[in-house]
Amino acid sequence: MQAVTLDIPVNADAAIVWQDDHLYLLDQRVLPQREIFIRCSDAGSTAAAIRAMVVRGAPAIGITAAYGIALAARQRYAQSPAGWRELLDADLELLAGSRPTAVNLFWAIERYRGLLRTLPAGDPFARLLAEAKEIHVRDRAENRAMGGYGAALIGDRSAVITHCNTGGLATGGHGTALGVIRSAHAQGKVSQVFADETRPWLQGARLTAWELVRDGIPVQLMADGAAAARMAAGGISWVIVGADRIAANGDVANKIGTYSLAVAARHHGVKFMVAAPTSTIDPGTAGGADIPIEARDPEEVLHCGGARVAAPGAGAWNPVFDVTPAELVDAMVTERGVVSNPGREAIAAHLEIRR
Ligand code: MRU
Repeated sequence: MQAVTLDIPVNADAAIVWQDDHLYLLDQRVLPQREIFIRCSDAGSTAAAIRAMVVRGAPAIGITAAYGIALAARQRYAQSPAGWRELLDADLELLAGSRPTAVNLFWAIERYRGLLRTLPAGDPFARLLAEAKEIHVRDRAENRAMGGYGAALIGDRSAVITHCNTGGLATGGHGTALGVIRSAHAQGKVSQVFADETRPWLQGARLTAWELVRDGIPVQLMADGAAAARMAAGGISWVIVGADRIAANGDVANKIGTYSLAVAARHHGVKFMVAAPTSTIDPGTAGGADIPIEARDPEEVLHCGGARVAAPGAGAWNPVFDVTPAELVDAMVTERGVVSNPGREAIAAHLEIRR
């Protein structure tokens, strides 16, 4: 992977950059210590960046894959103006194999498969790039809409808990759960954010705290295991999280630890909100048990900050997502509005809404 510095202000809402006919991704593996970009020029480098978590977060993965398809098509058309479509199939498969849980990746690929069927003969690059840019811009706008709907549910001067990173870095900009928090803070509604550090990858400590501090939103980090005690101590009104895939029945796959937060929230009478665009809802997945859960390298758990911390000889179980049953979710917020107590019928009806 080729690391570069770009002569642009580093900004969580511009972590995916199209410049000089290439894709640049703010390297989330090294934030906040280093602010460098990884340059992607084809499907292989884009898939590698997604797999390595240079870019992560369900919507950001979908947007990145969209640019990756445009890059791949440019390369394949140059290679064979007559046979590029067949060659591109391997690139779509490569991208689809990069991470299994975030459905926005497959949503983006399916959208492109549909678009490819309608394309006339000739160089496809301009049209496919325009599509990626549209997906990118639209995600940002949808997050702003979602932020407004979510903020409307939050009372004045609230303290909230969030998990993982769901901000500009994880999306096209503004964020899902963090977008709700940003919008609510702008309205004077959120006075304190408690962010789980999010072991093992520390998205909360490294990325969410970086975003909130830059926005001037008060944040206190806590070990993931501290969340229930924080709820028991009182004063928390909402737990607000994002999603990697929402099944048709409302079950939610999100960063490992989300499920235990939801259980603890219900026990303590704290409301639980899931904020995600409708592109994260997968009507083709019936329930949580059908969601493929990514298992990553045990080394991620056995090490911390590049150094081994676990006792020699210990193994590790490292599922990176878990499933929260729909009945533990009080509100699901999308760019189209709010689904209270989400279940199969409510979600199906929500997907019918057009705004
Ligand atoms: O493994 P990651 O960092 O890609 O996991 C990200 C999450 O679980 C987020 O909560 C989810 O993608 C929603 S973000 C907008």
